[in-house]
Amino acid sequence: MSQPSPAHDDAPDGGDAEVGDTIVDWYAGAARDLPWRAPGTDPWAVLVSEVMLQQTPVNRVEPVWREWLARWPQAAALAAASPAEVIRAWGKLGYPRRALRLREAAVAITAQHAGRVPADVAELEALPGIGTYTARAVACFGHGQRQPVVDTNVRRVVARLVHGRAEAAPARATDLTDVAVLAPVDHDRAVRFSVAVMELGALVCVAGTPRCGVCPVRDRCAWRLAGSPAYEGPPRRVQRFAGTDRQVRGRLLDVLRTAAGPEAAAELAAVWTDDVQRARCVDSLLVDGLVVQTEDGRFALPD
Ligand code: ADE
Repeated sequence: MSQPSPAHDDAPDGGDAEVGDTIVDWYAGAARDLPWRAPGTDPWAVLVSEVMLQQTPVNRVEPVWREWLARWPQAAALAAASPAEVIRAWGKLGYPRRALRLREAAVAITAQHAGRVPADVAELEALPGIGTYTARAVACFGHGQRQPVVDTNVRRVVARLVHGRAEAAPARATDLTDVAVLAPVDHDRAVRFSVAVMELGALVCVAGTPRCGVCPVRDRCAWRLAGSPAYEGPPRRVQRFAGTDRQVRGRLLDVLRTAAGPEAAAELAAVWTDDVQRARCVDSLLVDGLVVQTEDGRFALPD
């Protein structure tokens, strides 16, 4: 009879753990020294880092992450902060709904988990704003569990290394097992593998022109062995920022973040002259709960 064991600690069979071992060895010498990767980093600090890193480069995240952890070292502290405080502290990281969601997650952690970030993936996924990626990142990097942690960088590594394709396909259900089968058998090395493969995608197996000359698994890479075929999928959208609603929302929120109190519509008009676009963006900020309107028609951050 086979021994039941927690799903997260099952070392999957039939994979190529040797490739994973090679990537872990490479990571030991090549990894960036990022503060949230320091041994013993609290799961709460890991959760904050992962939410901030979702759409934002490491160098912009680092100072804000330090400020947040100094101010709100545990979930319960953030849960007690007002939405206005967290929106202000989010600064210019962008996608500010993340700040509100993180606060909501802190409220749930405080109320439902006695202030401790859960280790169970299903419990993590049940928290506001925490999806497949973030739940596993916290379980793995924060709680030391063997977990496949699959972001865009990792999907791109797997697309090339395993499937011989030039770029990542959109996220799909098989991503987790694709990565899990590459993990080393040894528990601690499997945990390190999850961050190591992400780092390989961030530093070496980058989008566009990868740096195959310095890749530790170039001789095992299905894409290179197939002659590095060009990308043949649908054209990838280049994300522009100038002129988008995202830019306008950022400017409007900046006005309210730095204001001493509620601001009249004219103050908002000063930062974006296109009335139609500005009105649309103000509306969407109101709908998202990032902005509220006072009884006299002025705008403010939510208390
Ligand atoms: N280390 C752990 N998680 C990370 C992430 N999301 N981005 C960069 N480095 C990380």
